[in-house]
Amino acid sequence: MTNPGIDEDRLRTEARAILRENDLGGYTIPTKGLYPFQWNWDSCLVALGLAHVDEDRALTEIETLVAHQWPDGMIPHIVFHADHESYFPGPDVWGTARATPTSGITQPPVLGYALRRLLDGARDRAMVAPRVAALLPKVAAWHRWFASARDPEATGLVAILHPWESGRDNAIDWDDALARVPTDGIGSYVRRDTTHVDAAQRPTKEEYDRYLWLVQRFRRLGWNQAALHDASPFRVVDPGFNAILIRSAEDLAAMARALGAPEIAAEAEGQAGRGRAALDGLWHEGLGQYAAFDRAAGTLVESASIGGLLPLMALEPGHPRADALVGRVAGLRSAVRHPVPSHDPADPRFDRLRYWRGPLWLIANRLVADGLGRHGRSDAAADIARDGLALVARSGFGEYFDPLDGRALGGKRFSWTAAMVLEFLEMA
Ligand code: GLC
Repeated sequence: MTNPGIDEDRLRTEARAILRENDLGGYTIPTKGLYPFQWNWDSCLVALGLAHVDEDRALTEIETLVAHQWPDGMIPHIVFHADHESYFPGPDVWGTARATPTSGITQPPVLGYALRRLLDGARDRAMVAPRVAALLPKVAAWHRWFASARDPEATGLVAILHPWESGRDNAIDWDDALARVPTDGIGSYVRRDTTHVDAAQRPTKEEYDRYLWLVQRFRRLGWNQAALHDASPFRVVDPGFNAILIRSAEDLAAMARALGAPEIAAEAEGQAGRGRAALDGLWHEGLGQYAAFDRAAGTLVESASIGGLLPLMALEPGHPRADALVGRVAGLRSAVRHPVPSHDPADPRFDRLRYWRGPLWLIANRLVADGLGRHGRSDAAADIARDGLALVARSGFGEYFDPLDGRALGGKRFSWTAAMVLEFLEMA
């Protein structure tokens, strides 16, 4: 489709150039300077964009990530392929003792979801299908790890143990749980992020102290994942993270059925079903959407963030809660100039500039748009895609954007923003 006023060719060319310049050979860094390594969910989402350019390279992106899976099944949130001074906390802080250093926590499991998009959209299925088939047992192992290490009481939902695992690092959702994390004994350190990006657009020093305390606590436990859950003062069940896991389990099952792996399919169907059934426990009547559950405190969190809208991508079509979520997205759409803010602007804690406390992110929009399409609202999904294209055409390939005036924020020439532009060009 053509979108009046948007130079689609220029956007496409620029998006491809950004993915090329951030390609360090087999993996794509999110952006130069600020994020000089491979990030887990960035790579999976970047693969969606790469698939429009080069399917072989898209699969390589994922294969490189999965090659660093831990023996227990976890796929880490950062792979430190090379040394780099410009990032803190680096490998020496994590101390995970892996041959190629990695962090010791994980990130939203969009892997199964991304792989299914690559498989279903494959132009060269003979090349793509066997490589996807070879990855399925690894995806299954990661999902199994989630069930045991992050849901030890078999509730059907998994907890994140560090805000960085959510992918929405400083979301308002984590404030109360993070406030209970101590800061004693962390020592002095020098942040690097604020040398690349205005501090007003980044998490605060208090947040950083607590992030580091958690890393140090887990490190002292030898990164024994089986021990971390109960030892962490921060244990939060994020509806967004769980929705992504449920959807990835559904997509894993579909791929496994199609590619002749019925045991993986049955296991994944079971996991998706248990997750869906448990999701309703995160419904917050007052907010009219899903909310995070603070597992350590035993309470639902009063925070209307985009995490509580992502279940759109996991609920079965026709699910009674879907209409309310579609309505919430429409409400947010009319509250800002550019959808979808990462937090409800009606909340006094909303901050239009600060990272995940208000700005809009094209990757989150991509997942919301998927959910809208799943529930029969392709019109609203296309509207989000079109707005994303117009935004980038005007402001550039920022990391995130001010939803009120559309200015680009954070890092520049950002890989997943480029990848989402390539996606939105197909959807809008
Ligand atoms: C930030 C984001 C996270 C992302 C990473 C690399 O930490 O919050 O979602 O994966 O940057 O882009």
